[in-house]
Amino acid sequence: MAEREEVLKEICSKQRRIRMRLSDQEKKMLDGKEGFGCQKAMEILVGLGEIYGCETMIPVKSAHISGSSYKGSGSAGSRFVTSLAEGGGRFKVPSTLNPLSLDLDNWKELGFSEKDCKNQLATVEAYGKMGCSSACTCTPYLAGKIPAFGDHIAWSESSALIFANSVLGARTNREGGVSALASGLTGRTPLYGFHTEESRRATVLVENKACLEADSDYSALGYHLGNLLGGDVPFLAGFGRKPTVQALKAFSAGISTCGNVSLFHLEGVTPESGDPKIVSRRIMNGKIVVSNEDLEAVYRKLSGTAQCGIDYVAIGCPHLGIEEMREVAVALEKKGRRIDPRVKFWVFTSREIKARADELGYSRRITEMGGEIICNTCVVSSHMENFGLRYVATNSAKAAHYMPSLLDFQVFFGTLEECTEAAIRGRWSRAK
Ligand code: F3S
Repeated sequence: MAEREEVLKEICSKQRRIRMRLSDQEKKMLDGKEGFGCQKAMEILVGLGEIYGCETMIPVKSAHISGSSYKGSGSAGSRFVTSLAEGGGRFKVPSTLNPLSLDLDNWKELGFSEKDCKNQLATVEAYGKMGCSSACTCTPYLAGKIPAFGDHIAWSESSALIFANSVLGARTNREGGVSALASGLTGRTPLYGFHTEESRRATVLVENKACLEADSDYSALGYHLGNLLGGDVPFLAGFGRKPTVQALKAFSAGISTCGNVSLFHLEGVTPESGDPKIVSRRIMNGKIVVSNEDLEAVYRKLSGTAQCGIDYVAIGCPHLGIEEMREVAVALEKKGRRIDPRVKFWVFTSREIKARADELGYSRRITEMGGEIICNTCVVSSHMENFGLRYVATNSAKAAHYMPSLLDFQVFFGTLEECTEAAIRGRWSRAK
């Protein structure tokens, strides 16, 4: 109880005057008539709304909550979530979690420690008590949780919210884990930013002249643009053939890595790109041209040396969809040789996609070649630093960006083809 009071004090003072116009239902939540958990959540959202000068709240249809990994949130985050659950907090809208710090179903076999698991389990239990879905993935939209066009949602996890805003045409701000959690518990978010038409207008034209083939090319392109765009909304032209869903996922993750992009419009592909109120060349302030050299510079920047022995290959940032699981199986089988036994080849996906891959035989085909399929966790939020690994290859620019600083790995960034080749030879070597 004392701890709960501490949390309460930290979040906000009750004395201040509320300037936002709240509905009767929202006032009830704020006054604690729906319990401590809901009250704290509403206080967070009112505080946020007032910072952004909002007048009202709007209902949201779903929440996606990052910061659920114990490795990231630590004991303070875990205590906060537990205090909300014990205080009667219950999700009012379907809510999902981002990847955790270990594979909940298989942690012992994979070599994660008991201590790490205990802490993470306590946090997950609290989320579960509040009614959270068991999907712990950064691609909830591939695991059956698909927002519709125009839906207002509150999603954190930058790669997922960019995909939801841009590819699906849902409307979300770049939420943090706490504000998304608060929206899940109240079913509300303050009305501002990307919930409004004005903020969704394209502000910069991006003309693509680079040749985009592998998904990692889209990842590199996104990474390059994220560095240049800051908080702009780009309109992307010159992509030629329509990118696949997985290419758009890779692009969303890449562009989310550096900078503050939350939405892009892709000519003839994304749902708002043909709307003249949203995309008009008259309201764009500048133009960026992207070339093959820009992409090559990203590959060079994110890879240490051209050749090196490796001990780990990480595929699945963001979590893989079912078509990508098939592609991994095919890429391995094509080589005709098993993965070097000294190399850990981990493929990250959601429980939902793994179940489908099991049915279709993709999981068996990957494991027969020496790979392992990991669920509920991710390349950077898992406790990989405890496995004695040092040299990792990946086809994700986002993973390649974060792994050196967060896990002290030396990273090699390339295509899926290059990563599978490296896994089999135990050695990285760039083809380009
Ligand atoms: Fe997903 Fe983790 Fe990458 S949350 S986008 S796999 S860094």
